[in-house]
Amino acid sequence: MRRGWRAPRRKERRTLNRFDVLTLFPAMFQGPLQESILRRAQDKGLVTIAVHDLRDWTHDRHRVVDDVPYGGGAGMVLKPEPVFEAVEALRQGPRSTVVALTPQGLRFGQGMALELARLPHVILLCGRYEGFDDRIPRGLQALEVSIGDVVLSGGEIPALVVLDATVRLIPGVLGDEASALSDSFATGLLEHPHYTRPPRFRGMEVPPILLSGDHRAIARWRRKEALRRTRQRRPDLLSRASLSDLDRKLLAEIEREDAGVALENRDERD
Ligand code: ADE
Repeated sequence: MRRGWRAPRRKERRTLNRFDVLTLFPAMFQGPLQESILRRAQDKGLVTIAVHDLRDWTHDRHRVVDDVPYGGGAGMVLKPEPVFEAVEALRQGPRSTVVALTPQGLRFGQGMALELARLPHVILLCGRYEGFDDRIPRGLQALEVSIGDVVLSGGEIPALVVLDATVRLIPGVLGDEASALSDSFATGLLEHPHYTRPPRFRGMEVPPILLSGDHRAIARWRRKEALRRTRQRRPDLLSRASLSDLDRKLLAEIEREDAGVALENRDERD
């Protein structure tokens, strides 16, 4: 072998992904981080997820993290001092992004998960009580994120939602990369229905085309059923999706079929 020769280096992964979670309830993360995809991603060294108790950054005997709201009213508010200290200890300069989980935040979705999956370091701040002192997200330039129009007891479960949705998009985490690409929302549509054995179960049949072995026909059926489901259940997604000529043709077929079904139902009623 020629001296000085080195094996060509495998294409370097862009960055190592790291998440630091700040919470008052670290135990809430134990189960979810130790199972399934999140566990495997950590075991493979593709992501580091560290969970920290916010009370570790208090300095009083009672480890107080909250206080009454100025102006009065019910509930307690998370104090800025321990949160700032914690974030300042964990932050790695401009490569870090702070995400504060709050129902007042920007709506989380597949697009945001894809963006977060590209970031080298994310600090997830879990709110509790009535929420954060408003100087926390402002002073830390945090991205405020909500997982939906529903109020949970705190940001822990939302943080787990963000972690799960994001980590599975980091290259190498899913065994079958294609499955992340065909997920609902990744294509802008809901997924087509899935079936497995047996072919007949309690009087319900698997659509015969799926048993035909005709891969072109199966792909067409799947696309059509994805379009049908999206049209029925999430017309808002359909109006934003980029559709091909074939998609439009399939949608026209669906419209004709549904109009036929409506007509049949009317005839049956009459
Ligand atoms: N904390 C409480 N409810 C929440 C929500 N919907 N999203 C993010 N954080 C929250």
